[in-house]
Amino acid sequence: MSKIYVAPSPFLKGTVRASGSKNASLPLMACCLLSEETSALEEIPKLRDIKAMSEILESMGVEVSRYKTNLKISPGNLQNCTPPYELVSQLRGSFLIAGPLLAKYGKVKISLPGGCRIGTRPVDLHLKGFAALGAKIEQVHGCIEASAKQLYGGRVYLDVPSVGATENIMMAGTLAKGNTTIENASIEPEVVDLAKCLKEMGALIEGEGTDTIVITGVDKLSGAHHTVIPDRIEIGTFMVASVLTKGDICIENVILDHLNPTTAKLKEMGVHIIEGENTIRVVADSEIKATNVKTMPFPGFPTDMQASFMALMSVVKGTSVIVETIYENRFMQAAELCRMGANIKTEGQTAVVEGVTALTGAKVNATDLRSGAALILAGLAGKGDTEIGEIAHIERGYDNIVGKLQGLGAKIEKK
Ligand code: UD1
Repeated sequence: MSKIYVAPSPFLKGTVRASGSKNASLPLMACCLLSEETSALEEIPKLRDIKAMSEILESMGVEVSRYKTNLKISPGNLQNCTPPYELVSQLRGSFLIAGPLLAKYGKVKISLPGGCRIGTRPVDLHLKGFAALGAKIEQVHGCIEASAKQLYGGRVYLDVPSVGATENIMMAGTLAKGNTTIENASIEPEVVDLAKCLKEMGALIEGEGTDTIVITGVDKLSGAHHTVIPDRIEIGTFMVASVLTKGDICIENVILDHLNPTTAKLKEMGVHIIEGENTIRVVADSEIKATNVKTMPFPGFPTDMQASFMALMSVVKGTSVIVETIYENRFMQAAELCRMGANIKTEGQTAVVEGVTALTGAKVNATDLRSGAALILAGLAGKGDTEIGEIAHIERGYDNIVGKLQGLGAKIEKK
């Protein structure tokens, strides 16, 4: 099993280009199932989760080919709507094929999805949406079976603005008869990107980016030709890397609006941020202050940035408090950071971080995707060498993170 080795790497400096967004790519790959034509997606990152999603599509007879960051998806020969458990259980995003399969082929049999173990992560809201569009839903031996000869538009109120449920129901609604309204919908940038792609395919959608999305069903969609938005979580991770190493990193291929919650928090902490047209430069040239963070749906502070901020807070003078409102079990990085000398106490959804003068290197394990990135950041800023195990988690969501950090002067390698 490979590990990532990180040595202290002060003053990271240079320019790095952000990859396309993982969380946008997965629903975009799923939405290609809504058309019989070949779709082309640009800026798809090279990640384990993307590979797993490609294998899921291939297991159903869909042709998938990659050339650099371009992915071509041809569902013309789709043979079944029952992807195998072994693949589906690898990632949460796999469940996003349910809406398109149900809408286009009238049925889907899919096991409950996997992904990071950060909470129970049910799919009840996805199913509530499918049922509101007239689908029959059954759960048999850990599999969800949904069927409908034809979906009909309906009204769905989401108890929480779930990203995945909004995406799944929106995709299902594109081929339903009549209007589908999703209330308390997610307004995350990845949802808006999916709506943009669906509209390019011929779907009729209004209100994306607001809490009410209305979809008017059409008979048929054409293939997608779409460029994925940049990965705002990867970008945020490099921003924190710059602060932690007292560096000067410029990140290219960014959409500034998507970064607002992260940028605002870093500015509040005293970080110097220079915004270009589609670049962001982070210069840590003054003293950084402790802060408090509460994770919220967009445009609130992203839960996916919480672990990286915990690593940063660990070495900022004073007391910082994190309240995690999205997931019930998302402080797993705290114990690993404490191995590196951090002073963090967690109780329920709250973490209190007392800044220490410096972290020390240690043997640690990535417990989930974002905690893995936080440990790399901590290792860069620590004193002594850090050895990170279970790095498959990190490779699920960060495209060439080792190579990109090396390009900025980091002493990091995978062996
Ligand atoms: C997506 C992202 C993930 C991010 C999360 C929140 C992808 C592939 N993953 O996950 O990185 O952390 O958004 O920004 O895009 N919930 C229910 N019932 C449901 C669905 C969700 O109770 O049917 C709850 C979840 O348990 C969680 C909350 O709603 O507490 C938010 O989850 P959701 O927005 O659905 O996250 P994902 O789409 O799974």
